[in-house]
Amino acid sequence: MKKWSASRAPAGRIAYVNGRYLPHGQAGVHIEDRALQLGDGIYEVFNVLDGQPTDEEPHLDWMERSLRELGMAMPMSRAALKLVTREMIARNRMANCFLYLQVTRGAVKRDHIPPADGPRPSLIMTVRSQDMAGLAQRLEKGIAVSTQPDIRWGRRDIKTVNLLPNLLAKQAAKKAGAFEAWLVDEEGYVTEGSSTNAWIVDKAGTLITRDLSNTILAGVTRHIMLQAAHEAQIKVEERKFTVAEALKAREAFLSSATGAAVPIVAIDGQKIGDGVPGPLTQRIRALYAAPKKR
Ligand code: PDD
Repeated sequence: MKKWSASRAPAGRIAYVNGRYLPHGQAGVHIEDRALQLGDGIYEVFNVLDGQPTDEEPHLDWMERSLRELGMAMPMSRAALKLVTREMIARNRMANCFLYLQVTRGAVKRDHIPPADGPRPSLIMTVRSQDMAGLAQRLEKGIAVSTQPDIRWGRRDIKTVNLLPNLLAKQAAKKAGAFEAWLVDEEGYVTEGSSTNAWIVDKAGTLITRDLSNTILAGVTRHIMLQAAHEAQIKVEERKFTVAEALKAREAFLSSATGAAVPIVAIDGQKIGDGVPGPLTQRIRALYAAPKKR
């Protein structure tokens, strides 16, 4: 019988579930966990560098906000949460990794309305090694994106585990030979990537990314990059842009905790700019990576 793939995790990998540190392949939640049955949960992804989660405070702010939008509180104090993340990094002996946090409303008899006095939320953490070679190649050569219709719901501003439309779009993009999908609304405007925010640089060198609303996820990486761009006096416009405008852009890139300012060199098979990673993309990446207090 084919083995459950999570059990093929590298030996020694540890997961955290509701107060316990367990071998990754054996960790689990109850079959009636509301995230499993109803998608009733949120997540956050941290890029851990040298044992330190990047942009930790803004990611925790965002986690708190996602939970609040679902009518939930943080599962433990911020200080306790930070202790658990440090313990996970130490136990997994991974100074550089991606740390995944998920909070669900917990396990209870399936019902759309959970009982007023519970259940107890589930807190899950896992780590994953980073594909450094893959990222290095994407940074050097750039990636292709494929546009796909944005068929998601009306609260894309919440980082929920309901990612089916995102997965379908990314799978379609992969089929089209692209690394990421750019989701496009009914009016032809790009909302964002399937798991990334979308950026272009116009002919005048202005950095453009969609303004915040419930149509996109307000990525933490996007926020920090915008701050860095403002500080460096780079001209920035937060507004929506069409696929047609993106095709005429000088540069394009995507941002997320798992890959900051990854250059896009083709959209739907059409070359962007010179078809190679652009200078402003590289500058934003460098500004974002520059050591600073976050
Ligand atoms: N993706 N937009 C979407 C739809 C996302 O899922 C994400 C995060 C982002 C970028 O957010 P941030 O900069 O906070 O990582 C934008 C995570 C990394 C993922 O699904 O793995």
